[in-house]
Amino acid sequence: MKVLELKPLESEQLEATVELDRRSLGGMWTIEGYRREMNSPNSDLFILRQMISLPAPCQPPSSQIVIPEPMAIPPPILSSPVLGVGCVWAILDEAHITTLAIDPTFQRQGWGSVMLHALLKAARKRELEWATLEVRVSNLGAIALYQKFGFEAVGERKRYYQNPEENALILWRKGLQRSEFQQKLADWEQEIGDRLQKTGWRLQRNVV
Ligand SMILES: CC(C)(COP(=O)(O)OP(=O)(O)OC[C@H]1O[C@@H](n2cnc3c(N)ncnc32)[C@H](O)[C@@H]1OP(=O)(O)O)[C@@H](O)C(=O)NCCC(=O)NCCS
Repeated sequence: MKVLELKPLESEQLEATVELDRRSLGGMWTIEGYRREMNSPNSDLFILRQMISLPAPCQPPSSQIVIPEPMAIPPPILSSPVLGVGCVWAILDEAHITTLAIDPTFQRQGWGSVMLHALLKAARKRELEWATLEVRVSNLGAIALYQKFGFEAVGERKRYYQNPEENALILWRKGLQRSEFQQKLADWEQEIGDRLQKTGWRLQRNVV
């Protein structure tokens, strides 16, 4: 079973996150943009990546060869690509979902749901009442994902996007502090886990 890790973005993964942003969003945020959100006390910025456990390095029995300390083999450095990113920004009692993207190779396997669920859970933990976001009116896949999580369209922002110019649909999700929402989060968590399992993945949440 492969392990999908959900964790807060840290400096070491900034470059890989910008690469994912280029692949999935066509270059929406720069490295400075991600760094700012990463350091902001008002934002939760998470990534998804595959966790790879390395086999222990082969070493001869200690009685045969003793490697002097300066020559000791350094631990293997692991760099795995960032495969998903999501950010939620808290302002007053609102949770603004400012980015959400999954690597094109891994879309339609439930990973966007993993990330959106994590962002909503983080928003509830911060005691926010509402979640909101803007999405291109033509982005029907993303809109379908948000609707699954109870988002509703409340209006449009005219010519909000450039290249190509397009209106934004404004979506809202209410009731984050209601007890039904807590139950919803638990149900989604179960569904998400089951779906991942069917494709050979297990989710490891390394978020507080
Ligand atoms: C939008 C995005 C994050 C969805 O990620 P994902 O991993 O594919 O989403 P999931 O697999 O969890 O999809 C869950 C549900 O959302 C809906 N959905 C997601 N992508 C869809 C698509 N392309 N077409 C139709 N429905 C879609 C479906 O209902 C899907 O459930 P199903 O697979 O059982 O039918 C991903 O397509 C992406 O990164 N797109 C590029 C960046 C982007 O547009 N981000 C949103 C900015 S607001």
